[in-house]
Amino acid sequence: MELREILGRRRMVRSYLPDPVPEETVQRIVTTVRRAPSAGFSQGHRLVVVTDPGTRAELARLAGEDEYVAAGSQAWISTAPVHVVVGVREESYHERYRQPDKLSDGEEIGWPAPYWYVDAGALFMLLQLAAIDEGLATGVYGVLPEQAPELKALLGIPDDVHFVCVVTIGHPTTDPIEPTRVSRRTQQRLALDELVRWD
Ligand SMILES: Cc1cc2nc3c(=O)[nH]c(=O)nc-3n(C[C@H](O)[C@H](O)[C@H](O)COP(=O)(O)O)c2cc1C
Repeated sequence: MELREILGRRRMVRSYLPDPVPEETVQRIVTTVRRAPSAGFSQGHRLVVVTDPGTRAELARLAGEDEYVAAGSQAWISTAPVHVVVGVREESYHERYRQPDKLSDGEEIGWPAPYWYVDAGALFMLLQLAAIDEGLATGVYGVLPEQAPELKALLGIPDDVHFVCVVTIGHPTTDPIEPTRVSRRTQQRLALDELVRWD
């Protein structure tokens, strides 16, 4: 698929068929982690792939799926057949930037932004684009900070890995009911000149 077509299809899908995604397809999608950019090539990204229905149900509970359903959405989190949990190990960045070729006046640089989260964002977008290229649909959800420790314990995510978000992947339903309360329907798309300035 051409990139332009993939971008045209990119949107958060909150309605999936229960049909499984072949393991080789999921494998191809998650392998994009090895193509993801990272500051200093720190490679702090960490992924957990979840397909087990019981674990998906637990993730849906932690993400407050009941509230999505109450708002008119389908039970999209528990039905999405594949969940890719995106985490990042911040310490990998500090370790990398304390290596001699990265020191600035003998010290670790000051960070203009937390690049570990920048890289997690770039990675989740690659996962979305790779899934769309496979003819699938994807969405993203998070959990509230107070739920993150339980999510990490459920999946055995080590203490030094921050939970960032979860990418859902699956076959879209043909006629999704888009709830009126999703942000894309409640918020105005900003004009281009509010987002992009030249010179
Ligand atoms: C970091 C991040 C977290 C998000 N978390 C959620 C979420 O928890 N639940 C949800 O329904 N959508 C979530 N979204 C989707 C946004 O609402 C969506 O991207 C936005 O409304 C624009 O819609 P579009 O991506 O379909 O164009 C998240 C998006 C991002 C980038």
